[in-house]
Amino acid sequence: MASHIGIMGLGTMGSALARNVASRGYKVSVWNRSHEKVTEFITKYGDQSFYGAEHIEDFVESLDAPRKIILLVPAGAATEDALQNVVRALSEGDCIMDGGNAYFKDTERFQNQLKEQGIVFLGCGVSGGEEGALYGPSLMPGGERQAFEYFEEILGKIAAEDFSGKACVAYMGKAGAGHYVKMVHNGIEYAEMQMLAEAYDLLKRIYKLPHDEITEIFRGFDQGPLDSFLTHIAVDVLEKKEGATPLLNLIMDKAGQKGTGLWTSQEALTLGIPTPGITGAVFARGLSSLKDLRTELALKIPTQELAPVITSADFVKDLESALYLSRILNFVQGLELLQAANTEHHYELNFPEILRVWQGGCIIRATALKDLHEILKQAPNESILKSTWFQKKVQEHFQSHRRVVATAASHGVPLFTLNANLSYLEALRSSVLPANLIQGLRDRFGAHGFERVDEPGNFHGQW
Ligand code: 6PG
Repeated sequence: MASHIGIMGLGTMGSALARNVASRGYKVSVWNRSHEKVTEFITKYGDQSFYGAEHIEDFVESLDAPRKIILLVPAGAATEDALQNVVRALSEGDCIMDGGNAYFKDTERFQNQLKEQGIVFLGCGVSGGEEGALYGPSLMPGGERQAFEYFEEILGKIAAEDFSGKACVAYMGKAGAGHYVKMVHNGIEYAEMQMLAEAYDLLKRIYKLPHDEITEIFRGFDQGPLDSFLTHIAVDVLEKKEGATPLLNLIMDKAGQKGTGLWTSQEALTLGIPTPGITGAVFARGLSSLKDLRTELALKIPTQELAPVITSADFVKDLESALYLSRILNFVQGLELLQAANTEHHYELNFPEILRVWQGGCIIRATALKDLHEILKQAPNESILKSTWFQKKVQEHFQSHRRVVATAASHGVPLFTLNANLSYLEALRSSVLPANLIQGLRDRFGAHGFERVDEPGNFHGQW
């Protein structure tokens, strides 16, 4: 019996997704660049649901026509190689879905190249890590609608569920829309993780709270409005011990990155959309890796230890508020970027659907998405910043956010995301900014001209 679908790449994500697809009653062919992984996979999970192919030709031949193939290999060169390898064995009308964290411009290039050969290509963001891939990821497919329709049924069956029980999958839009949305998802993921790390740092460095107490504070956060997957797993990470020592104390403080946060920031800069919380998180990761320099400067520039003015109980309340407001701002910045990308790239994004698909399975799933989704359902193409809901939330949490940032500054604790998000908000609510001085300086040294507030036109100063 021919397989319904083929999966290329049996790394962590590929093997988990293959098992998920098979568990929904599909027959799945699997292939991997090194055949050992196929043998291992079949030995471990093999039954009549799987066919382990040795060569790309028998992999392709084992599939029902039109063939549906999901590619789950690292983005970049490995994806390019796998595509070249499989395409020569495919026929017109076959369809490939790339489920890796591909750069959206690569996805668009592949779509155009493969179209010439009659092969349809879907770029699909897949979020949720190994657990998500196995039990239900959040899926963000984009490309030609026909390509989506090929995979629609299977994707609907393997996806996680949103808050109302619907599958966390929807057609995101044209061209590279799927991978673009996933890229922005990851940008938000960077900011979310950074602000949680900053909260941990504040409690540890300023209040010097015992580790177990910090764990309990995070558990409390997870049970309130900050409830989210990342808050939840932060408790897991904090809780883990090796003997009596928290594992966290043994983990080197250098954060890695694969590039999606950087791409999000590059895009934001290119399109002129401020995403300071997200971009701050990317810089924070870069700075964390300068361990030797930091260690040297820590000795040379010591800071005076001050006793905190706010009690730890009050500070925890402020922190919860600041994190909540900052979370809203992380999502707002991602959505503002998506709005601009939608205009620039003509994706035809469906904004309420994006926020629905992010409600289950993905790394940034959070209770706050319920309210954000409702707002966008009412005004799909309007900025959340303009909603009365947002303005009310700002009033509720603004002072707490300010106190947290001020406390951090007076005790020498760096905040990349919490601070950047506060400034973002302060700037947005300032009808007058000091950009008049920037314009004056630009005109003074380079005759760049400026607009005036009292009459229309372009002017130069007689400096
Ligand atoms: C997801 C994650 C996943 C992966 C990131 C990690 O949605 O499941 O985002 O895609 O964990 O790529 O990225 P960094 O290595 O850059 O942190």
